[in-house]
Amino acid sequence: MLVLGIETSCDETGLALVADGHRVLGAQLASSLLQHQKYGGVIPEIASRAHVELLTCELETLLESTQISPSQIDRVAVTRGPGLSGCLLTGMAAAKALGLAWQKELVPVNHLHAHLYAAFMGDPEPPLRQRMIGLVISGGHTALVRMDGIGRTSLLGQTRDDAVGEAFDKVGKLLGLGFPGGPEIERVAREGNPSAFRFTVPRMKSGSPYDFSLSGIKTAVLYKVREAGSLTPQFVADMAASFQSSVVEEVVQKTVRACREAGAVHLAVGGGVVANGTLRRRLAEACAEVAVRLWIPPLSLCTDNGGMVAGLGHHLPAVTSKELTAIPELGVS
Ligand code: KG4
Ligand code: ZN
Repeated sequence: MLVLGIETSCDETGLALVADGHRVLGAQLASSLLQHQKYGGVIPEIASRAHVELLTCELETLLESTQISPSQIDRVAVTRGPGLSGCLLTGMAAAKALGLAWQKELVPVNHLHAHLYAAFMGDPEPPLRQRMIGLVISGGHTALVRMDGIGRTSLLGQTRDDAVGEAFDKVGKLLGLGFPGGPEIERVAREGNPSAFRFTVPRMKSGSPYDFSLSGIKTAVLYKVREAGSLTPQFVADMAASFQSSVVEEVVQKTVRACREAGAVHLAVGGGVVANGTLRRRLAEACAEVAVRLWIPPLSLCTDNGGMVAGLGHHLPAVTSKELTAIPELGVS
């Protein structure tokens, strides 16, 4: 089966053609990132307009570059949420129009499930029915879940305050780095000492033991930045490396603990922050120590993209055009 995937939940306009749920035959990705940079965050109105402008050109390029004609496509899968409502609606409208014009099945996809599914796209027969732990860490979400098959997840823990990517973005801003802060922090951290500053993560007395709280570390960075007065390149590098290392350890420890306590021998991770090299290395090391198989997407499928939507769309039921609605507040379970 050949699926066209459409992703427009935030500032990335992603389209991809995926065969059999795992072979990416072609993909197009454009972002309105540069237009948001001066505001230090995504402006929904600008992002929605950009999707409208980009979608048709990207589709033409995708069909031309893959030499695939609409008649060969079986279904159109599209992100229904969570995301910015105006942005989601542009993807929905595009999917409905294509479904009608080409007479194709329409499949709504949960963006968070798609991030997790991306971890399996390198494998034609992933163990999707086995008990698994899933971790989604992106700019908008932090969720640790138990997975019992495709799209069947139950929440174990989430963030009490900032999502992991959001914390990277805010600390990047405090350190005078560009937006988004995640990749910038990773870049400058290469020249820094991860033990230069110590951050402690508060132990939470109530709620789930798998919940995350990163606002304490973020505030500690703010105080140290104020104390320092001027931000020398070495201070920024040391702070970036120390922050990154603390957050990575917090994420890795909680995730591995969830695997151990659930008796799961598979872990799937996804979302923009999974592009972080230090996190990837530490997850691989920690999983190897406890004999958990780590499923992790290639870099091209970590941040928002159309491939993960098409891949997951292969497995889900189709709906009518009327049933295809955007759900901006959709959760992971
Ligand atoms: O999944 P994604 O593209 O969009 C959402 O669904 O939110 O994730 C974007 C987030 C941003 O917060 C960005 O700073 C973070 O992923 N990110 C990273 C890296 N690359 C992207 N964080 C840390 N290290 C990276 N290399
Ligand atoms: Zn995302």
